[in-house]
Amino acid sequence: MPNRSHHNARHIAMNLLRKRGLKHSSANVAMAPSTAPTSHIIAVMDCLTLLRGLPSGSIQLVVCDPPYNINVASWDDRAQYVDWAGQWLSEVERVLAPSGNLVIFGGLQYQGEAGSGDLVSLIGWMRAHANMRLANLIIWNYPNGLGAHRFFANRHEEIAWFAKSPKYYFDLDAVRSKLDVLRLERYKRDKRLNPDNLDKGINPTNVWRIPRLNGNSRERVGHPTQKPKQLIERLVRALSYPESTVLDFFAGSGVTSRVAIETRRHSVSADVDSMFPTYFRRHLDQIDGGGLLPKDYVLIDPADWTAHPLFRTASQAAASP
Ligand SMILES: C[S@@+](CC[C@H](N)C(=O)[O-])C[C@H]1O[C@@H](n2cnc3c(N)ncnc32)[C@H](O)[C@@H]1O
Repeated sequence: MPNRSHHNARHIAMNLLRKRGLKHSSANVAMAPSTAPTSHIIAVMDCLTLLRGLPSGSIQLVVCDPPYNINVASWDDRAQYVDWAGQWLSEVERVLAPSGNLVIFGGLQYQGEAGSGDLVSLIGWMRAHANMRLANLIIWNYPNGLGAHRFFANRHEEIAWFAKSPKYYFDLDAVRSKLDVLRLERYKRDKRLNPDNLDKGINPTNVWRIPRLNGNSRERVGHPTQKPKQLIERLVRALSYPESTVLDFFAGSGVTSRVAIETRRHSVSADVDSMFPTYFRRHLDQIDGGGLLPKDYVLIDPADWTAHPLFRTASQAAASP
């Protein structure tokens, strides 16, 4: 797979300038990312209802952390699970922009319960039915977890990253790992390595060591399977750009929208659980400092979302006055 690290925000902005017949110069300050508030939709809604209402090509990144267990849904065998998943995976491919990315969380350990799925079955569906390419399988390695006696205690979960097209967006510079002084000096003596890149930091690789949230973590907002902000943030920074739109239709606590607010992306998040807005409000309390800090985001009322320009595709936007 070619290295796409040059597809960073600056190149995208410069390409945009060129397409609009403008040169890149300090006179074009109007083309710089705006300081307008970002928009966020927080909906209690079924994933398919939400997805079917979104225009094609409107989303840059889908963060997908699906339920895998029959006990929370009505399907009764694995084939039915995969049929259901196939419906939302097809919609994901449709709503993604050509530069778009999809990340799916899950484990590979299929336990064989009737009606449950796993990441392998979703990757299998993508291979058979989608035109997207598997860009990376990321290993999320966490140091904390349950003990075990009959097998090795599990300390990882997988994240499958699919790119919509060869033009996918990937900003490696946004997520490079900084080297400590000693390692930096040592690496700089190696003539095969580019010293400028070493100063920016190194590729974090596809094995990410990030702790899971402990029960008493300050980040916790009450959702039982809440993912750490640090994990979502690395995905959002690398696979979307400021003021693009990030979608999470199994939103859980709403951590993806929280990260979108903090990194200046727009977002759409939905979950069937009526507790979702309550969890999300707790995230906002952590961001806003109890209402003391200025807000640079707006929450859109779900009743107004279809009219919001956030959801206009490029052709719709061009056709409108
Ligand atoms: C694994 S959790 C997501 C956790 C989330 N990533 C976080 O970090 O907070 C999966 C979520 O999918 C939701 N869900 C299950 N079926 C759904 C459906 N048909 N449509 C939308 N959400 C659904 C569940 O309520 C649950 O909150």
